[in-house]
Amino acid sequence: MHILAVASEAFPLIKTGGLADVVGALPGALAPQGLRVTTMLPGYPAVLAALPNARSARNIADLFGGPARLLRGETAGLDIIAVDAPHLFGRAGSPYLMPDGREWPDNALRFAALGAAAALVAQDGLRGARFSAVHAHDWQAGMAAAYLRHGTTRVPCLFTIHNLAFQGKFEASVFPRLGLPWEAFAAQGLEYYGGVGFLKAGLWYADAISTVSPSYAAEIRTPAEGMGLDGLLRGRGAALHGILNGIDLAEWNPATDTQLAARFDAADPAPRAANKAALQRALGLAEDPAAPLIAYVGRLAWQKGVDLMLEAIPAIFDAGAQLAILGAGEAQLAERCAGAAAANPGRIGTRIGFDEGLARLIYGGADAVLVPSRFEPCGLAQLCALRYGALPIVARVGGLADTVVDANTAALSQGWGTGFACAPGSVALLAEAITRAAIAFREPSIWRALQANAMRADVSWAPSAARYAAVLRGLVHG
Ligand code: ADP
Ligand code: GLC
Repeated sequence: MHILAVASEAFPLIKTGGLADVVGALPGALAPQGLRVTTMLPGYPAVLAALPNARSARNIADLFGGPARLLRGETAGLDIIAVDAPHLFGRAGSPYLMPDGREWPDNALRFAALGAAAALVAQDGLRGARFSAVHAHDWQAGMAAAYLRHGTTRVPCLFTIHNLAFQGKFEASVFPRLGLPWEAFAAQGLEYYGGVGFLKAGLWYADAISTVSPSYAAEIRTPAEGMGLDGLLRGRGAALHGILNGIDLAEWNPATDTQLAARFDAADPAPRAANKAALQRALGLAEDPAAPLIAYVGRLAWQKGVDLMLEAIPAIFDAGAQLAILGAGEAQLAERCAGAAAANPGRIGTRIGFDEGLARLIYGGADAVLVPSRFEPCGLAQLCALRYGALPIVARVGGLADTVVDANTAALSQGWGTGFACAPGSVALLAEAITRAAIAFREPSIWRALQANAMRADVSWAPSAARYAAVLRGLVHG
């Protein structure tokens, strides 16, 4: 079975968040299930640069205002179709934003074009390749489901929600330019609160829907977490699956990771001490092995609860802990993180920007990793942290609730627990979880046991790949 995946990001070609990691990892994870995946991406400059030997596989005379070519190539173990349409995607930098930080005004046409190209390839095949199903990711690929449904040949579509907060909502005035029949502009279609919704299109037209954790799949059916789409999601009931993300265990392996100062494994995590010292030096923290080193790696955004973490700094200091921050995102949060480091030399270290190597040193050197999200569809930071023996301190929400076992008194008495969890959205409860972690850190036998549990937790793709394969096979055969 050959699947056409459609997305706007895939690691290592283009990445702004976990979406790219998942789209980049799924083809390898699905291969042992007997599924072959070809991934369609917009031909951003970074994507074309990664495919120097790509072959032109089809020309499209007019793709939403200009000519396009579909290029087929391989890189990093991925089989890629790039939509080379310079008038839409020939723009360096962020895939979505202009250099001044605002959205590109033609984003509706850019990502409608991605969906239209995907439907074309799925229905016609491409140079002898035939596709059994389409797997579309997030709003940028949602229109693929609409074009498939209004197309000529029936090809089933699975639509995966990575984050319901990004909805691809546009003015109704773009509808006539999408090339769909008028009946599509309806509640039973892609009409969304008077405008056009690309995420809504995916949810309405796809044959099955999945999201990236079982807890998030339940949360988004409620008005509180459904962001206006809970009614539709409840209506689609049985077609909505929660399938947990994994991480690639070869890619994320502390025994072979060349970005670490010292490599280690679950049997002997002692070399982590050298990574902790290197991390402390890199971020200007006091080189103190006895101070619990708590870290944050991620987008600086309201979703992630970065503000809650900053408000919990007094508790971090009361616990005798240090704080390391690596993140990029909202300017105001970046300023606050940098300010906290400037005001607390040796105790808080901040690096603003995207730095894969430093992220790995954090996972392999910090004692604990904070993920205080207000909502979290899955989250990959806590999975990397578990794998590298940094105990996650998380809000009990979405995929964080599904992947971290709180080391409370009862769990500890049974030798159980992989981290610390608290209810989301509260500085006081976050502070309490941080305090519990610091207390456990000062009991070496307890900490070692928790670390061993964390490093042995199954964060691989294997169980979830089997579930994706079952859903896709169900669509194709039934
Ligand atoms: P989201 O997709 O919501 O941003 P995830 O936890 O799913 O969050 O995925 C984020 C991924 O990006 C993780 O692999 C994390 O390690 C990585 N990451 C996030 N911010 C940075 C950064 N500033 N530098 C390096 N890696 C980062
Ligand atoms: C989104 C979510 C994150 C998830 C990622 C990959 O960016 O915010 O929770 O892990 O997608 O599915």
